[in-house]
Amino acid sequence: MKTIIITGGNSGLGFETAKKVVGNPEYKVILACRNPEKAQKAKEQIVGETGNAHIEVMPLDTSSLVSVRAFAENFIASGEKSDVLVNNAGISSMGNTGTTEDGFELVFATNYLGHFLLTQLLLPHMTEEAAIFNVSSDMHNPPGGIDWPGAELLAHPKEDDRRKYAYSKLCMIYFTHELDRRLRENGSRITVNAFNPGFMASTNFSKGGGKARELVVKTTMPDRYGKLESSSDALAELITNDAYRGISGQYFDRSTNTAKSSALSYSRENAQELWEASMTYCDLA
Ligand SMILES: NC(=O)c1ccc[n+]([C@@H]2O[C@H](COP(=O)([O-])OP(=O)(O)OC[C@H]3O[C@@H](n4cnc5c(N)ncnc54)[C@H](OP(=O)(O)O)[C@@H]3O)[C@@H](O)[C@H]2O)c1
Repeated sequence: MKTIIITGGNSGLGFETAKKVVGNPEYKVILACRNPEKAQKAKEQIVGETGNAHIEVMPLDTSSLVSVRAFAENFIASGEKSDVLVNNAGISSMGNTGTTEDGFELVFATNYLGHFLLTQLLLPHMTEEAAIFNVSSDMHNPPGGIDWPGAELLAHPKEDDRRKYAYSKLCMIYFTHELDRRLRENGSRITVNAFNPGFMASTNFSKGGGKARELVVKTTMPDRYGKLESSSDALAELITNDAYRGISGQYFDRSTNTAKSSALSYSRENAQELWEASMTYCDLA
């Protein structure tokens, strides 16, 4: 049986992907979620719809480094190895301001830094050909573009920046590229890729925009439009089909096809800088 960990697996993309994956009885899914009631409900729904009871709920709040460490300790104590880690949990910039208990900007910590630490802690407990998927977004390259302000300004901004979501998703791509380089240098067969689901109007994430926003994205930015159904199909396929195990350091765009991410996202210098700062933030340096 293969073990798949999905952060934020109780709704939206994580939930739909979990459901599709456990449709195959060879897979066991761990829903790593911050809200135990929601997670339990999601589990019951998936078991009810698929008939596969190989699904577990484990508490994880990606915005808290203590919670990330506790999750990793629980998982490691189980003696299991992870075949797939999907770093999916995320929040938008809208309505999410302030700093975490660790003193980091909330969106940076939730979407990126918690996943950075989780991955580092789980890496020694993954199978030889494990696969990591970092959920990013087209918004890593928002209309009008962004510059790289440096990790420290993202972790501890002087003022609220509405582009913080875009930066957090750019960080997920930098993390993907830097981890891939390091895994290859160490001769590892573990792969890591970024996944862009596209703008999905039907998840909780986008509920503020409603139908009008969906129509605007669909008509004015068709290259950014995604569908929960097809994006979760693609992610489930990437997770379960061994044909993709040889691919690493890529950006899957709303499908099982790779695409180029923004020019800025290929900066090795920025990726290294973010990695080193993150190691310090997570007390791993
Ligand atoms: N929807 C889009 O248009 C879109 C576009 C591009 C990329 N994405 C990315 O796709 C991923 C999934 O989003 P979605 O659209 O499926 O939205 P969603 O339905 O809101 O799902 C997000 C999941 O993340 C969880 N989460 C949020 N903060 C967390 C934390 N601190 N610790 C643990 N879990 C946390 C949520 O838990 P709760 O239920 O407890 O809130 C929920 O399970 C995100 O990374 C998002 O950035 C979405």
